[in-house]
Amino acid sequence: MNLYEAMYSRKTVRKFNMKPIEVVTMLNFQRYIKAMLEEQCCKGCSVEIIDTLTSNKKVKGLFKVVAPYYFIVYCENSIKGFYHAGCLAEMLVLYLTSKGIGTCYQGGLKIEPVKDELGVCPGIAVAFGYSNENIYRESGRAKRLKLNDIIFLKEEINTEVEAILKGARLAPSAFNMQPWRFVVYHNRIHLFLKKDPIIIKKFKQVNGVDIGIVLSHLLLGAEEFWLNATVTQVDSLSERELKNYEYIITVLLDI
Ligand SMILES: Cc1cc2nc3c(=O)[nH]c(=O)nc-3n(C[C@H](O)[C@H](O)[C@H](O)COP(=O)(O)O)c2cc1C
Repeated sequence: MNLYEAMYSRKTVRKFNMKPIEVVTMLNFQRYIKAMLEEQCCKGCSVEIIDTLTSNKKVKGLFKVVAPYYFIVYCENSIKGFYHAGCLAEMLVLYLTSKGIGTCYQGGLKIEPVKDELGVCPGIAVAFGYSNENIYRESGRAKRLKLNDIIFLKEEINTEVEAILKGARLAPSAFNMQPWRFVVYHNRIHLFLKKDPIIIKKFKQVNGVDIGIVLSHLLLGAEEFWLNATVTQVDSLSERELKNYEYIITVLLDI
């Protein structure tokens, strides 16, 4: 199974067994993390793995699941930092899924902030480990908004772009809120965040992570179809004041 296939079959796992992950598998995971940290879309992040089986580090927080391992993605304390963290976290989640390891995002985990002058903070945490439950599900069983409800097509799109958007639709999000909307012109996918009426600081962070997660699905989709994708920001859209949406980023596909 590759990461693109994992995108279609992953589901959240909330019950883990305490079986240790094989040393080789863990080493390969660490190698994958190192490679991903070089990627533009994960810029400025760092990752800590907590192994509760061998360390006595305590993990606390709201909606926490008990798992043998957690990884924490640290990032810059900004919306950009949070979507970089989300993008990296989802790549790691899909990597683990492809190896038969279950995952559960942990939006409410209490993590001591890293004291760093550059404003680095814990962006998102993920619980992971083996499970006795099935960690896969048919993509049709995922509860998601309809494609038509999240995409505004401005021009005809080809089948590859449509497939990429279908993969993005399956992205997981906090409370399954799916706060993303796409405005699509031929080869340009503009990503917008649905503004939440409740302006809670923590929500802003989690929404940023959600956007990064959906961005990773767009990038993996482009890669699957051998399309070069550039992530960019369109100034004229950034400056536009929209009532219900906030423009975040654009993915330009080389078609
Ligand atoms: C940023 C983020 C934070 C989340 N936080 C939690 C959490 O604290 N506890 C939990 O049980 N699930 C958490 N989830 C999992 C979501 O509830 C889940 O992804 C969503 O309901 C969709 O289900 P699926 O992943 O099975 O497709 C979180 C997901 C994301 C993306």
